[in-house]
Amino acid sequence: MIQAKNALFIFVTAAALLADARTVFSAVSVNGVDQGHAVGVRVPSSNAPITDIESDDLICNTNFIQPVSDAIISVVAGDTVTAQFHHTSAGYVGPDPSDPLDPTNKGPVLAYLASIPDATQSNVTGLEWFKIWEDGYDSVTHQWGSDHLFLNGGNASFAIPTCLASGNYLLRAESINLSSATSYPGAQFFMSCAQLSISGATAFISPATVSFPGAYTSTSPGIVTSIFGVSSYTPPGPDVFAC
Ligand SMILES: *[C@@H]1O[C@H](CO)[C@@H](O)[C@H](O)[C@H]1NC(C)=O
Ligand SMILES: *[C@@H]1O[C@H](CO)[C@@H](O)[C@H](O)[C@H]1NC(C)=O
Ligand SMILES: *[C@@H]1O[C@H](CO)[C@@H](O)[C@H](O)[C@H]1NC(C)=O
Repeated sequence: MIQAKNALFIFVTAAALLADARTVFSAVSVNGVDQGHAVGVRVPSSNAPITDIESDDLICNTNFIQPVSDAIISVVAGDTVTAQFHHTSAGYVGPDPSDPLDPTNKGPVLAYLASIPDATQSNVTGLEWFKIWEDGYDSVTHQWGSDHLFLNGGNASFAIPTCLASGNYLLRAESINLSSATSYPGAQFFMSCAQLSISGATAFISPATVSFPGAYTSTSPGIVTSIFGVSSYTPPGPDVFAC
């Protein structure tokens, strides 16, 4: 009996390790062209989640792999940008059942931009963010954004709006694990920021903006929620900006 209990304990521990849903956004593609691992991306050295939505770490993560890239990725308004997520900070390192994240992870995937004087500056407080893309929950297929991220090998792709002023921007791409989010804290936030230079817009519209921290609260319905018996789900944060 004692042996059986030990065996059960080992099994449960192994299962818990396998369910490690952690993920890191560590590379960008532009129109399908890979810019390289950690090039123009501030990659956190740990794949641990941020759980405190009042922390400045919610902006772009923390404890970046050094030196942080000084590359700024050039994109043209309307280009398709892909944020590449993988299980660890190392990017894709070979077959891994939890790459790009453990498929039992359920939650939305989102992308934001903020104008910034210099995309390589370390200070990211006080930026004004707008959401350019989100993938929440499809009530017909019952798939979450995280399911699509898994099926797409970690690639979250979206278009850069065609009406933005030229200049430097940070791209904040985020995957949220809602598996134990029925109370706060509970939701787990995985994000990095990429350094972009955007040009080529043909029209100019100033997006409404939000701040981080601030855009998410401990009572936001998209953050305090159950993944079970979901009929519809609205991701946290503002509406997606459209030109
Ligand atoms: C998501 O969060 C749960 C609860 O903290 C955690 O056990 C798990 O590793 C994460 N992903 C899952 C359930 O795959
Ligand atoms: C960071 O930038 C914000 C906004 O421009 C500014 O208010 C703040 O003082 C800066 N912080 C540091 C440490 O420079
Ligand atoms: C994801 O993007 C990378 C880089 O552009 C590409 O090499 C890879 O084939 C893509 N994976 C899938 C499943 O589309």
